[in-house]
Amino acid sequence: PIYDNPLRPQFHFTPAANWLNDPNGMVYFEGEYHLFYQHHPESTVWGPMHWGHAVSKDLVHWEHLPIALYPDHNGTIFSGSAVVDWNDSSGFFDGKAGLVAIYTQTEMIPDSNLSRQRQSIAYSKDNGRTWTAYSGNPVLSDERFSDFRDPKVFWHQDSKRWIMVLAAGDRVCLYHSPNLKEWTFASEFGAEEGSHAGVWECPDLFALPVEGSTGKEKWVMIVSIGDDETLPEGSRTQYFIGEFDGIKFTNDHTPESVLWMDHGRDNYAGVTWSDAPELTGARLCIGWMNNWKYANLIPTAEWRGAMTIPRKLTLRERADGIRLVQEVPDEMRKLRLDGFDWRDELIVPGSNLLVGHKGELFEISAEFELDTASEFGFKLRTSDENETIVGYNTADSQLFIDRTKSGIIDFHTQFGCRHSSQLEPDDGRIKLQLWVDRSSVEVFADNGGLVMTDQLFPLEGSDGIEIYALGGVVWLRSLQIYPLKSAYA
Ligand code: FRU
Repeated sequence: PIYDNPLRPQFHFTPAANWLNDPNGMVYFEGEYHLFYQHHPESTVWGPMHWGHAVSKDLVHWEHLPIALYPDHNGTIFSGSAVVDWNDSSGFFDGKAGLVAIYTQTEMIPDSNLSRQRQSIAYSKDNGRTWTAYSGNPVLSDERFSDFRDPKVFWHQDSKRWIMVLAAGDRVCLYHSPNLKEWTFASEFGAEEGSHAGVWECPDLFALPVEGSTGKEKWVMIVSIGDDETLPEGSRTQYFIGEFDGIKFTNDHTPESVLWMDHGRDNYAGVTWSDAPELTGARLCIGWMNNWKYANLIPTAEWRGAMTIPRKLTLRERADGIRLVQEVPDEMRKLRLDGFDWRDELIVPGSNLLVGHKGELFEISAEFELDTASEFGFKLRTSDENETIVGYNTADSQLFIDRTKSGIIDFHTQFGCRHSSQLEPDDGRIKLQLWVDRSSVEVFADNGGLVMTDQLFPLEGSDGIEIYALGGVVWLRSLQIYPLKSAYA
């Protein structure tokens, strides 16, 4: 594979070749982070799905492994999860611990032109290198639902059994099991809650402590929603905060309220790692950095599709309620090269403090103090023809990404867009952290309280960086820029 292709991400996971969509089966076991993914090994567009596989010791460097799951007589392999069966509840592991994958299989119903989706399991006794499909597959089906997929399984300590959350069209169904093989319906959630702008997919459910509280814990339900072709946003991910009693999830919010995981266009189907170590009070998540609206059309070469940076999820209590916070794990900072620092600079229209700085791979941390400027921010990956703007508009308190001139945009009419999200200044200040790779920008504002992830496909040589102000001045209280090295270096 050609990792030095001008659009090939250098610190985001991509398949060596061909198509990738959802992250699947993320689990940590015996020193390795496993990442499986929806993969078509013979084409750069979506097709018969397999589980591709990679492992990492540090979340930064990934080793590609052979395909883990191939289509079989029960169908192709759609999204799902994996767990460590520590106590051999399944009986697959002769009393030891091992890995069990739980996934959807899609196939045509014999003698019809309809397809069906049923859940299967497979186990591995050699740290995920080889997998055996369970002879009793499928383990769960419900022919009332034609969309019935993406099982995410976790061990529920209080009820001492496995819980599965599964997407069934316009709702999430919950099941429980003592052994991962037999599943009993528990409850369903969501037919009347949150956003239904698209089909529900890829749910997740987990508990997190509320930062700074004394022992307060909340349950988070993540639900991705597919592309509704009438809306510009395409596919995106929402979450709910509430309670879970082992049977039922109850939403703390009113049914019509919607919380978005990411306010950018390219973060979909994200779910969290099972059994991740040293993460007391946090969960590790990764998403597919793409959008079904144009996923099959993005202008990359022998591979198509990338993951987001892994993210550490926590819960923070804010004036408007409890919200998910996303941070870049410390491990990523291994990629930093020598940085540059500024303090207390007045940014005036028409000047560029960063003149002479260039880069395709870098991290920026900035703190602005609002003054008379009506807009300010960064222009990234610039050249005579190209720029991607990450800016803040003070009149209506909107953080935005403008990728209308970001490079190659003509593969889909809605790719070249400007989109924004409400961000109130904190004590008159706006804090931004940006991670820029060859074909993406991830913006973490408000200490991770607001995230925007976008792909961009700049033309070669678009490597300028600017800081700008319009309509007045803004104080740059602090700025650090770290050029990043490639994870392939
Ligand atoms: C989400 C999704 C899942 C499905 C998979 C198929 O992006 O549509 O619901 O399992 O992709 O590749």
